[in-house]
Amino acid sequence: MIWRVLLSLLVAFIQVLAIAALTNTNDFTSLKALKDTWGNYPPNWIGSDPCGDVWDGITCKNDRVVSITLASIDLSGQLSSDIAGLTELQTLDLSYNKRMTGPLPPQIGNVNKLSSLILVGCGFFGPIPGSIGSLQQLRYLSLNSNNFIGSIPPSIGNLTNLYWLDLADNKLTGTIPVSDGTSPGLDMLVNTKHFHFGKNQLSGVIPPQLFHSNLTLIHLLLENNQLTGRIPSTIGLVDKLEVVRLDRNLLSGPVPPNLNNLVSVQELYLSNNALTGSLPNLTGMNLLNYVDMSNNSFDATDIPPWFSSLMSLTSLIMENTGIQGPIPVSLFSLFQLQTVTLKNNRINGTLNIGSTYSNQLQIIDLQNNFIEAFTQRAGFSVQIILVGNPICNEGGTESYCSLPQPSSNSYSTPPQNCVPSTCSSETVSSPTCKCAYPYSGTLVFRAPSFSNFRNATIFASLESKLMVTFRSNSLPVDSVSLSNPTRNTDNYLSLDLQVFPSGLDFFNRTAITGIGFTLSNQTFKPPPEFGPFVFEGRSYPHFQVMGSNKSSNTGVIIGAAVGGTVLFLLLVLAGVYAIRQRRRADTADRMNDPFALWDTNTTSGSVPQLKGVKAFKFEELKRITNNFSETNGIGSGGYGRVYRGTLANGQLVAIKRAVQGSMQGGLEFKTEIELLSRVHHKNVVSLVGFCFDHGEQMLVYEFIANGTLSDSISGKTGIRLDWMRRLRIAHGAAKGLQYLHDEADPPIIHRDIKSNNILLDERLTAKVADFGLSKLMGDSERGHVTTQVKGTMGYLDPEYYMTQQLTEKSDVYSFGILLLELLTARLPIENGKHIVREVRSVMDTSKNMYNLQGILDPAVASGMSAKSVEMFVDLALRCVQELGSNRPSMSEVVKEIENTMEIAGINPNAESAPTSSTYEDANKDGKHPYSNENMFAYSGAYPADSKGFEPK
Ligand SMILES: *[C@@H]1O[C@H](CO)[C@@H](O)[C@H](O)[C@H]1NC(C)=O
Ligand SMILES: *[C@@H]1O[C@H](CO)[C@@H](O)[C@H](O)[C@H]1NC(C)=O
Ligand SMILES: *[C@@H]1O[C@H](CO)[C@@H](O)[C@H](O)[C@H]1NC(C)=O
Ligand SMILES: *[C@@H]1O[C@H](CO)[C@@H](O)[C@H](O)[C@H]1NC(C)=O
Ligand SMILES: *[C@@H]1O[C@H](CO)[C@@H](O)[C@H](O)[C@H]1NC(C)=O
Repeated sequence: MIWRVLLSLLVAFIQVLAIAALTNTNDFTSLKALKDTWGNYPPNWIGSDPCGDVWDGITCKNDRVVSITLASIDLSGQLSSDIAGLTELQTLDLSYNKRMTGPLPPQIGNVNKLSSLILVGCGFFGPIPGSIGSLQQLRYLSLNSNNFIGSIPPSIGNLTNLYWLDLADNKLTGTIPVSDGTSPGLDMLVNTKHFHFGKNQLSGVIPPQLFHSNLTLIHLLLENNQLTGRIPSTIGLVDKLEVVRLDRNLLSGPVPPNLNNLVSVQELYLSNNALTGSLPNLTGMNLLNYVDMSNNSFDATDIPPWFSSLMSLTSLIMENTGIQGPIPVSLFSLFQLQTVTLKNNRINGTLNIGSTYSNQLQIIDLQNNFIEAFTQRAGFSVQIILVGNPICNEGGTESYCSLPQPSSNSYSTPPQNCVPSTCSSETVSSPTCKCAYPYSGTLVFRAPSFSNFRNATIFASLESKLMVTFRSNSLPVDSVSLSNPTRNTDNYLSLDLQVFPSGLDFFNRTAITGIGFTLSNQTFKPPPEFGPFVFEGRSYPHFQVMGSNKSSNTGVIIGAAVGGTVLFLLLVLAGVYAIRQRRRADTADRMNDPFALWDTNTTSGSVPQLKGVKAFKFEELKRITNNFSETNGIGSGGYGRVYRGTLANGQLVAIKRAVQGSMQGGLEFKTEIELLSRVHHKNVVSLVGFCFDHGEQMLVYEFIANGTLSDSISGKTGIRLDWMRRLRIAHGAAKGLQYLHDEADPPIIHRDIKSNNILLDERLTAKVADFGLSKLMGDSERGHVTTQVKGTMGYLDPEYYMTQQLTEKSDVYSFGILLLELLTARLPIENGKHIVREVRSVMDTSKNMYNLQGILDPAVASGMSAKSVEMFVDLALRCVQELGSNRPSMSEVVKEIENTMEIAGINPNAESAPTSSTYEDANKDGKHPYSNENMFAYSGAYPADSKGFEPK
C-alpha cells in the first residue's frame, strides 16, 4: 500500500521534473514546423529542446516558448500556420528579414497571448487577416514596410489594449474603418497612442467618427495616401495630439477653424493637398515647432499675425500658399527659429531680419517673391535665397541672388578622442577607432521638430540615448555612429546608423536580434525633438560560424525509460534539470561580460582570435579543483593562487586564479588570452582555456609535471640535471623563445625570461611559460616598443632599463643570464654580485675550460667536454653584451647551442628519455611552476644603486 503511494508520488514528481526540464512538446512541434519552412535560421537550432538548449532568438518561460525575436538575421521563407501552436507566445519579431515573404496566416489570430506582433521591413504580402482582431492582448502591432494589400481590417478596432499601430509603407487600399454598431472600427481604439498609416494608398474621406474626445492618440500619421474630402472638424476633439501629418493626400475644402484647439501639437503637416479657404489660423498653438502648409490652394491673404507668435517655432514652411505683403521683422526673433521657407508667394517690400534674430537661424528661402530690398548686416551668416525676386532681377551678383551649392558638410559622428583606424575589407573604424563589422540600417524620423541637420548637439543626444538603451538592455554595443542626415523624398529625416560590437569585432545572433528588437518594437525612445521613428535594419552578414553541437538528451531519456527503473529515470531527469537550470543561470550571466560572444561549450576554434582555447564556466573549474581547495593548491603569488585539476577528458591542468587586486580590465584579459591562444610550440606552455565568469579571471594551462627549471637547478625537485640535459634544456628554451620572436604572429617579446619561467615536462623538455609581461610587437613600432620597464632583477637588460625601449634583444640578454645560471647554478644576483661579473672575474680564455671550474655547478662538473663549456660561455657572454646590437638573435643562439651539443656528442634532434619515477615523486613538495609572482604585471624595477648588472 505505502509502496504504491510512494511510487505514484515518485511518478508525479518525475512528471513535474520532466515538464520543468523539457520544452513543451506542442511548442517544440510548432517551432520545428516553422523552422522547416525557414532558411537561414540560427545554426544552434538543433535538437528537440529549444528552451533547455537556449536556441538563439527563442525565450521560454519554464517549458513554454514566450518569445521569438529574429530581427536582421536574413531569415527566409514564410510564416506558416504552425505559429498557431505556440499558444503561450507573447512576442513575435521577424523584422528586417527581406526574404521573409508570403501572407500573414489567419491562424495568427489563435496566438491568444500575443502582445507584440512586429514584422517590420520584411517581404510579407497579401491582406492583413481580420483574425488579428482576436488578439485581445495585443499592444504593439507593427506591420510597416511590407507589401500588404487590401484594406485595414475593421476588427483591429477590437484590440482595446493596442498602444501602437503601425501599418505604414505598405500597399493598403480602401477607407479607414470606423465602427457602425455591427462592425468594429479604429475609433474604438481609445488606448492607442499611435496611428501610423503613411505611405499607403488609402482612399476615401477621413471619417468624422474616427475622432472623438475619448481618444488618447498622440501621433496621427496619414501622409502620402489618397485620402479625399475635408479634414473633419472632429479632429479638434483629439486634444492629446502632438504630431499631425495629413500631407501628400488629396484633401480639399477649408481647414476646420477649431484646428487650433490642438494646443499640444508640435508638428503639423498639411502640405501638398488641395485645401482651400482662408489660411488656417494657428493662433494659440504655442508648442508648434514645425509647420508645413505648402502647396495648397488657400485664398490670398496677408501674412497672418500668428507667424510671429508661435514661440516654439523652428521651421516655417509655407511654399505656394498665397501669402502676400512684407514679412514682419518680429518673425526672425522667435528664439528657436532655424528655417523659413516661403517660396512662391507674393511677399513684397524690404526684407529686414532685424538685430535680434534667432541665433539658430540657418536659412531663409524666399525664392520667387516680390522682394525689392534687403538690409544686410555685417557678420550676418544666415543663408538667404532671393532668387526670382525683383532685387535679383537686374543681374544681381550678391550671394543671395544665386542658388546655394548643395553642401556636403553634413553631420557624421566624430571619433572619440582617437585616430580612426585604417580597416581592412568590410570592417569599419568605430567612433572608438576599432575596426569591426557594424550592424547598420537607417533611422527614419517621420516628423522631427527641427530642421538644422548640422547641429552636432542634437545628434550627440541621439547617440547617447541609443547607447543608454543598448547598455540598459545588456546588449554588447561598443559605440554607435550616425551619418548623412537628409530630408528624404517622403519628407522624413533619414539618418544612417551603424552599431559597433564590444568585445569581439562582430556580433552574434543574440546580439543582433536584441538590437533589432530594441529598434523594431520601439524600446528605444529617441529624444523628443526627433518624434516618431522607424528603423530600417539591414541583415547582418558577419556572424561567424560558432559550431555548437549540443547533443540531444532524448536518447538518454529513452534509454532510461526502456531500462525501466524509476529511480534511474528520476536521477537522470533531476540531473538534466539541474544542468538546465544552471545553464539558464549561466545564460543570464553571459549577458554582461565582454566574452559573451565566445562559445563556452565547445572549443572556440571557430573564433579566429582564439585558436583551440576553451572558455570554462566558473562552475566547472570550481568542481575540478574541489571548490579551489587547499589540497589542490600548487602554488601562489602576488596575482593569486594556482590549482591543479583534471578536466573531463582526463587532461591535467594548472589553473591560475587571479585575486581581486591583480585582475586586469576585461579588454586586457581578452588581449592576453588572444595572445596566449596564438602560441603553439613544443617548447612553449600552451593555454588550454580561460574563465571569465562570475567576476573571475583564470587561465587554464597544460599541467607541466616537473616544475620550474629553477627548482631543478637548485636541487629542490631532486631531478639531476647533467650537462647533457642542461644543453637540451638550453636548446629547448632557446627554440621556444626563437619561436616567439620569429614565428609568432605578431612577434612576442617575453620580457621575463628566467629559470622560474622555464618549465620541464616529464621528458624534461623545456617549455617557456608565463606571458604575463609579454608585449606584442605592433606593426607600427616594428623594432622596439617603448614601455614601462618590467621584468625581474638580475635578468633585466640594462639597455632596456636605460632607454625603456624593449626589443627582442632584451630577451636575449635574459637568456644569456639563464645560460650562466645553467652553468653555475648561481642566482643572477647573489650576495649583491651579478652573475655576469662573477663569471668575468674568474674567466681566463687562455686556460682550459676558461678557468671556470671553480664557479661551475658541482652537479655538472664531471663529464663535460671543455670545448662545449667554452662555447657555451662564449655564447652566454655574447648574449649579455651591453649593446643589444652586439647580441646574437635567438635563431643564432639556437644554432650555436646546436653546435655546442654536437661538440658535446649530443644529437640536438633526438628526444630525451623520460625522467624516472623518482623525479616525479620528488615533485610533490608543494612547489610549482605556476607559483611565480609575475602572473600579470609586476614592476620589478632595478634598484638604482645596484651596480651588479653592469657587464664590466
Ligand atoms: C471582437 O471581440 C469580441 C469579444 O471581445 C468577439 O466576440 C468578436 O468576434 C470580435 N470581433 C472580431 C471581428 O474579431
Ligand atoms: C467616451 O467615454 C465615456 C465614458 O467612458 C462614454 O460615456 C462615452 O460614450 C464615450 N464617448 C465616445 C464618443 O466613445
Ligand atoms: C485666430 O484665432 C484667434 C484665437 O482663436 C482669434 O483671436 C483670432 O481673431 C483669429 N484670427 C483670425 C484671422 O481669424
Ligand atoms: C505689397 O503687396 C500688397 C498686396 O499685394 C500691396 O497692397 C502693397 O502695396 C505692396 N507693398 C509694396 C511695398 O509693394
Ligand atoms: C543645437 O541644438 C541645441 C539643442 O537643441 C541648441 O541648444 C543649440 O543652440 C543648437 N546650436 C545651434 C548652433 O543651432
